[in-house]
Amino acid sequence: MRKVLQKLKFRVVVIFLIVMFGVAFFSVKPAQTQQPVTLNLLMTAPDAEPWKQGIIKDFETKNPGIKINIVEGPNATDLLENLYTSAFILGDSPYDLINMDVVWTPKFAAANWLLDLTDKITEAELAAFSEKDVEGRRYKGKLYAIPMRSDVGMLYYREDLLKEAGFNPPESFDDLIKISQALKDENKGRWGYVWQGKQYEGLAAMFVEILEGFGGYWVNPETLEVGLDRPQTVEAIEFLKNTIQIGISPPGVTTYQEEETRQIFQNENSVFLRNWPYVWPLANKESSPIDGKIAIKPMVHTKNGSSGACLGGWALGISKSTKHPEEAWKAIKYFTSEEAQRKFVLQAGFVPSRRSLFLDPQIVAKYPHYPQLLKVVDKAVLRPPIAQYAQASDILQRYLSAALTNRITPEAAMKNAASETRQLLRR
Ligand code: GLC
Repeated sequence: MRKVLQKLKFRVVVIFLIVMFGVAFFSVKPAQTQQPVTLNLLMTAPDAEPWKQGIIKDFETKNPGIKINIVEGPNATDLLENLYTSAFILGDSPYDLINMDVVWTPKFAAANWLLDLTDKITEAELAAFSEKDVEGRRYKGKLYAIPMRSDVGMLYYREDLLKEAGFNPPESFDDLIKISQALKDENKGRWGYVWQGKQYEGLAAMFVEILEGFGGYWVNPETLEVGLDRPQTVEAIEFLKNTIQIGISPPGVTTYQEEETRQIFQNENSVFLRNWPYVWPLANKESSPIDGKIAIKPMVHTKNGSSGACLGGWALGISKSTKHPEEAWKAIKYFTSEEAQRKFVLQAGFVPSRRSLFLDPQIVAKYPHYPQLLKVVDKAVLRPPIAQYAQASDILQRYLSAALTNRITPEAAMKNAASETRQLLRR
């Protein structure tokens, strides 16, 4: 009998311990889940600033359970893409949210690195965004990212200098050259025209615009026909080379990215500049020597051609390997909302992806050219939306840079570039 009692006591103690353990375990768990979830997001350093200034703080205040950790990467989009790509290839990417340049989407989607967002948003909700921005984020009929901000290449000019000299804003390539020659001033160290000539993605984006202005094309996305060895491409390269030869563009232009060209323009050292809309608020800051002296217009073209504005822009996707897809989607919904975009655009001068914001009274009061910009976005030229885009762009950049720096003739360069691109697309 004693033995039986002892056995029972032992069982009771064991059961008690199990129950206590269970209570302790389950009462600890809620505390653990209350730990905020951190979402990692890599982006270029100049982009990071306006994010940190406002919209991240607002999101975190509204969602105390989620923190956004911005990792600042290099300025050039291709270097940033390499970082994302190596993280994905190594597996278990540390990034939850992916801030994607429009040209990366097909590659990232084809490689199966992104969550499919098609069912997360209705077509009616998507209709509030610029159509081309959304198209750039679809791959094989599925949607992989939501546009956060759009971008279009534009021509900036010194309105004060043109007016003083009695020039109308240029329409054609010839006008641009003529005005540049007349207004460049060696004594003042003032050049005519600065553009992005370094061998990197910005060169491809800038070239798309010149090519369009000459009536040429790079790759037709529907037929995959390659247009690089057509005479229009050679004419476009000759135009750019000529700007250096006749001294309206500095010889160093073949090493410049966006920021170098902006600084030259902003320091009163150039009459014209090809760049993205982010330049506007920086050049018009009170401390800027060209504050209030500039204007912006679509790129020039041949007499019978039309303006080409390259469609750029950034969108948010979710990494397939994230452990927090729900929180990541919540963040995307907020960062692409009208409220967040308005704040972001007012701060940084970026271009909204939501159409209503181009006509928003607060935004138009600060940036009167935005209603006009919407028309430019609608007509903008996409770089080829193909999964092999990174390789295609690399081919163009290599041969274009060789031609611009006189290592190879434009004809030979484009013959090689066209044949390598055709080979790539056949694969
Ligand atoms: C801008 C554009 C992007 C483009 C890049 C090139 O960031 O938004 O689309 O690829 O410039 O430098």
